[in-house]
Amino acid sequence: MTTSAIESTIQALLGPGKGILAADESFPTIGKRFKALNISSNEENRGAYREMLATTTGLSEFISGVILFDETVRQRMSHGIPITIPKVLAAQGIIPGIKVDRGTVSLANFLGEKITQGLDGLRERLIEYRGLGARFTKWRAVITIGENLPTGTCIDANANALAHFAALSQEAGLAPIVEPEILMNGSHSIVRCEEVTNEALQRVFAALFEHRVVLELMLLKTGMILPGAGCPKQVDVGEVAEATLRCFRRSVPAAVPGIVFLSGGQSDEVATQRLNAICRASGVPWRLSFSFGRALQAPALKIWKGSPANIEAAQAALHHRAKCNGFALQGKYSDEMENRKISI
Ligand code: 13P
Repeated sequence: MTTSAIESTIQALLGPGKGILAADESFPTIGKRFKALNISSNEENRGAYREMLATTTGLSEFISGVILFDETVRQRMSHGIPITIPKVLAAQGIIPGIKVDRGTVSLANFLGEKITQGLDGLRERLIEYRGLGARFTKWRAVITIGENLPTGTCIDANANALAHFAALSQEAGLAPIVEPEILMNGSHSIVRCEEVTNEALQRVFAALFEHRVVLELMLLKTGMILPGAGCPKQVDVGEVAEATLRCFRRSVPAAVPGIVFLSGGQSDEVATQRLNAICRASGVPWRLSFSFGRALQAPALKIWKGSPANIEAAQAALHHRAKCNGFALQGKYSDEMENRKISI
């Protein structure tokens, strides 16, 4: 294992005031996001969109890495420029990463639960992705909270897949981002979210231990502790920060160098406010950062709408969200930052 290569990738991803842009939406997911704005999801549009994100001036001030999808890692720039998207990122000092799971399917015999696929042939794919410029990987498992859900069987099946993925990534010299996402869909309370997240994280770390994954050479990606989106009792940012940090202290070993947050469907500004509150805490053993998809991209996508004329404004919107979240990592975000969108 090339330990030092993984170590330096992780240190760079966790650079101060910087986070990760998740731009690795699968075909169905990007299709859904495009459809909402009447953009047709074809290879050309997907390439143009990701090229717009990757060529944002100044992105590297606040973004240390970008997670790409299989299609994008191979895509070249438009207008016949023979440079791939990973090379465009690397030239700016942004580390290209790759989502390597192949999405979720229903878990047989467990109604309402999912298992993530993609382990078959993964060893060979990792070698290929390395050759294409990727330096880190991501695998997402999905845990649903509901009546009598999640089951231990679902958590363990996903934990084992995450651990096998992480072991294969480390073997290939790629830094794994291990992502158990506890969905915020549903009407469950924040207390229930914390309970389920604790259980899921503890089982994931048990599996990582069983698979001899080196905890110092991975990142954990998960959600904040939140009430379900449909829960009548929502809570303030202070309560989110307190519950999130308490959960991590109980369930994430101090050997893990960093925890990066997904946004999970929170609105962009709310995600930033909560991130800011969490990052104000001192004395935690891990570096905390973001690995947002929607909470970084949503305003940019809305502006872009598939038109080259909107590229500059869309890039300004992305840069703005990246900057706000970069400031939040230092606990320096404030609402006033949102009023300066245009000039930034
Ligand atoms: P969201 O921030 O939109 O949840 O996406 C992050 C991600 O990478 C999910 O796998």
